[in-house]
Amino acid sequence: MKVTIVMENHSGFKKGLLGAHGFSALVEHKNMRVLVDTGVDGEVLLRNMNALEINPKKIDYLFLTHGHYDHTGGLKALLEARKGRKLPVIAHPEIFTKRVALKPHLRDISIPFKREELEALGADFILVKDPFQIREGIWSSGEIERKVWDRAVGYKLEGGALSKDPVKDDISLILDLGKEVAVVTGCSHSGILNIAMHAQKIIEKPLKALIGGFHLAGAKKELIEDTIETFKGMDIRKFYAGHCTGFDATARFKTAFGERFEPLYSGKVIEL
Ligand SMILES: [Fe+2]
Ligand SMILES: [Fe+2]
Repeated sequence: MKVTIVMENHSGFKKGLLGAHGFSALVEHKNMRVLVDTGVDGEVLLRNMNALEINPKKIDYLFLTHGHYDHTGGLKALLEARKGRKLPVIAHPEIFTKRVALKPHLRDISIPFKREELEALGADFILVKDPFQIREGIWSSGEIERKVWDRAVGYKLEGGALSKDPVKDDISLILDLGKEVAVVTGCSHSGILNIAMHAQKIIEKPLKALIGGFHLAGAKKELIEDTIETFKGMDIRKFYAGHCTGFDATARFKTAFGERFEPLYSGKVIEL
């Protein structure tokens, strides 16, 4: 399996690549090409795809980890670049929830496009709440059970009323590597510990790698330490974290796991 980070907050080292707040990664596994999320911006997404020689027309599935703008902002540009070719888009049924953040002021943090306009451009939404196998060895986690620390953010806006948004649509991609399993997550609003435990429930094999945003930015020290201590007991071979992981958690992970931890950036390639 090969994972190429198409877009992340940091620009990395390869010439021509840009960093922008958000996440997008291409997963190549069992002759399938699955793009996980599209980052915040279509221009940056397509520029980085071009620099990495990834043809937008040669993607078999788009997997959306959740409906926040920084993971879905490149959606329209991606579909336009495919010139009307149908693209199966796998996500949770609540992905189009209208959501806002109230800090530092009221702002929309939902998908910045309407479902109908995306469908007119070729998106074929497959919205499923439960875990399921997309293709051989490639699974959607489905909705994730929250047993410990939950990292939900923002508010839902329904019928003129605000309520806390649990981001129930947070799902991860689970890859069966034969003897082990790898997980690609977007922003880990369900909590990275819950995601790791959930993945091992779906495929009962050791975790070789956790890849994505761990959403520990701004987390209490207690949560960061508990996450690290729990992971120490779970025998996870590698951690590849970026986006919303946060500087404090990144530093602590690096200290705790040494070479088993690697930060993400645009253009990073992970081969497992
Ligand atoms: Fe995010
Ligand atoms: Fe998010």
